[in-house]
Amino acid sequence: MIDYRRLRIALLGAGAVGSQVARLLIEQRAELADRAGADLELIGIAVRNLDAPRDVDLPKELYTTDAESLIHGADIVVELIGGIEPARSLILESINSGADIVTANKALLATHGSEIYDAAEQVGASVSYEAAVAGAIPIIRPLRDSLAGDRVTRITGIVNGTTNYILDRMDSEGADFAEVLADAQRLGYAEADPTADVEAYDAAQKAAILASLAFHTTVPLDSVHREGITSIDAAMIESARHAGFVIKLVAVTELLQNDGHDAISVRVYPALVPRTHPLASVHGANNAVFVEAEAAGPLMFYGAGAGGVQTASAVLGDIVSAARRHIAGGVGTGESTRANLPILEIGAVTTRYQITLEVTDQPGVLATVAGILSDGGVSVATVEQTVVDGAGTARLVIGTHTAREEDLSSTAQRLAASDVVTRVASVLRVEGE
Ligand code: HSE
Repeated sequence: MIDYRRLRIALLGAGAVGSQVARLLIEQRAELADRAGADLELIGIAVRNLDAPRDVDLPKELYTTDAESLIHGADIVVELIGGIEPARSLILESINSGADIVTANKALLATHGSEIYDAAEQVGASVSYEAAVAGAIPIIRPLRDSLAGDRVTRITGIVNGTTNYILDRMDSEGADFAEVLADAQRLGYAEADPTADVEAYDAAQKAAILASLAFHTTVPLDSVHREGITSIDAAMIESARHAGFVIKLVAVTELLQNDGHDAISVRVYPALVPRTHPLASVHGANNAVFVEAEAAGPLMFYGAGAGGVQTASAVLGDIVSAARRHIAGGVGTGESTRANLPILEIGAVTTRYQITLEVTDQPGVLATVAGILSDGGVSVATVEQTVVDGAGTARLVIGTHTAREEDLSSTAQRLAASDVVTRVASVLRVEGE
């Protein structure tokens, strides 16, 4: 057996992911040593409550409530507590005491990423966070390393499993949002308070991290345009299906031109995705990230976006690579945020749209609607009319050519105010065409 140098691993947090990471570090210690070129010794697990029930039976002596002392004896600190504090302070302290960092903390990286990366750069430490976006799916390292020589032009991701589970069941069963959400909560997919998932806060944090990596620029969380899925109803899903689309909560970031200069857009919202697009076949609570790069072309990364043991796989991969760096020395992984690109407001973004209107079924109505669209600078690509009932109401489903969001939204307001329009049933963007 090779006499490897021993590296001390401190784990902060023993939740669903942390307990699996601890188990795998212990059970696979010999194999991990061969892969890392270092013996990875789990020296302790910092928890808040020593007596809390755990998913996995681990040696009692590993647990401590003294996170500060634990990190000071560590070569690699694995932060799986989540949230901002005390995770932020413990990570900064670990960096200053010479440790490399592995974290799955998307909220922290999306809000305090620059502070952490800068602190790590000062001392040459690495910060690895494969598990922060899309759970088990390798997407951070592909963007940071494999595609470092390419120019990413666009990322379209399904990065929240809870909302994909809900929308997928609404699509396959014709069920309503509230009904599926209640089921998702019963089955443990959705939290008792589902706000972070259904209002897309979780997806927005992941979008900020992906955009920053893809375009080598700092992306403040408040520059991410965010809309959740609570307004999506069974009728919208049915209408989307009829037109050959499926509704998905997508995180989109793309490189754009603004006054002849590069700029980016980062946005999360429910959108119509053509049923022929690879993202349309992402079912259940799975995640997928569709990356378009100039040289590589389109790439799709697909798999489990959450789950204790699945996410632990990504954390273990980061621990092995942090160990290799710790042994080899040299500078840490460093974040490249030098591009300093402007981030466009949603109003300046262009996409195609589908507008569904309920209108009075009378002569001249179509001409009035067409006039409002034309005055607003919105070009119509397709129109389908169906008579809803015998009471003189019709439904108009209008597909537009690419339009600027601010033009589209002022046009939608004018349509809503028009005498011939009873109701603007939905305005949805089309992504993935
Ligand atoms: N709540 C997230 C999801 C998993 O539903 O995908 C953790 O990011």
